[in-house]
Amino acid sequence: MSASKKTIKRVTTQVLFNMKASGEKIAMLTAYDYSMATILDDAGIDVILVGDSASNVMAGHETTVPITLDEMIYHASSVIRAIKRALVVVDLPFGSYQGNSTRALDSAIRIMKESGAHAVKLEGGEEIIESVQRIISSGIPVMGHLGLTPQSIYKFGTYTVRAKSAEEAKALKKDAKLLEKAGCFALVMEKIPAKLAKTVTKSLEIPTIGIGAGSSTDGQVLVTHDLMGITKEFHPRFLRRYLQLYDEMKKATESYIKDVKRVDFPNSSEQY
Ligand code: KIV
Repeated sequence: MSASKKTIKRVTTQVLFNMKASGEKIAMLTAYDYSMATILDDAGIDVILVGDSASNVMAGHETTVPITLDEMIYHASSVIRAIKRALVVVDLPFGSYQGNSTRALDSAIRIMKESGAHAVKLEGGEEIIESVQRIISSGIPVMGHLGLTPQSIYKFGTYTVRAKSAEEAKALKKDAKLLEKAGCFALVMEKIPAKLAKTVTKSLEIPTIGIGAGSSTDGQVLVTHDLMGITKEFHPRFLRRYLQLYDEMKKATESYIKDVKRVDFPNSSEQY
């Protein structure tokens, strides 16, 4: 158990800042529902991300593009009802903030008021900085997200490693500084070279959280369904699977079906 799990009653943005300063790594995972959030919070996770990956994992869409603001609020409200300790960050979905800082602020306010979440996350750098500034100036904490930004999948066409060229790396470093200056409390960096993630992490005072960005970031995030082995057809190099729940749950379902068919369930002690 980490020192902060024992001593910290509630994780705040200031706690994350202190963790970076003291060198304690930040552990973040996704959740989209009450039951999963209860388990993660009870285990001592520092940050829960209600990611727009719910679009893939919960709704079965191919990309994160279709999920709506109303759907994100539904997932976030379910997660918030479970939380005693973790900081809960919610993704602003595609179409709810790009190109219009007034709409961005309205979307962020809806998430905060209707779900009770603690912070929001937006994908992008310079192109969304006005939205980031506007949301922060209203008092809502913002987490940035650079590197692979899945909401822009149709612009890039692939989910491959980002910022491999010197030009892209330079742009990412500049965006990271801009987001910090705008007041973001943390920055997710997805699928970028570990060396670049290390350089950016050292150059910032705010904590960085990596996914496929090596071990030098101030924290790590994974999609919980990937880590637990509930999703099956996803094998990126950065993913460590801690369980094979798809197989376990399938086996349990097969056993239940068998027991029902042969009238073994319910037995005499499982009825009234
Ligand atoms: O939506 C999500 O799950 C994310 C993480 C992969 C960082 O943005």
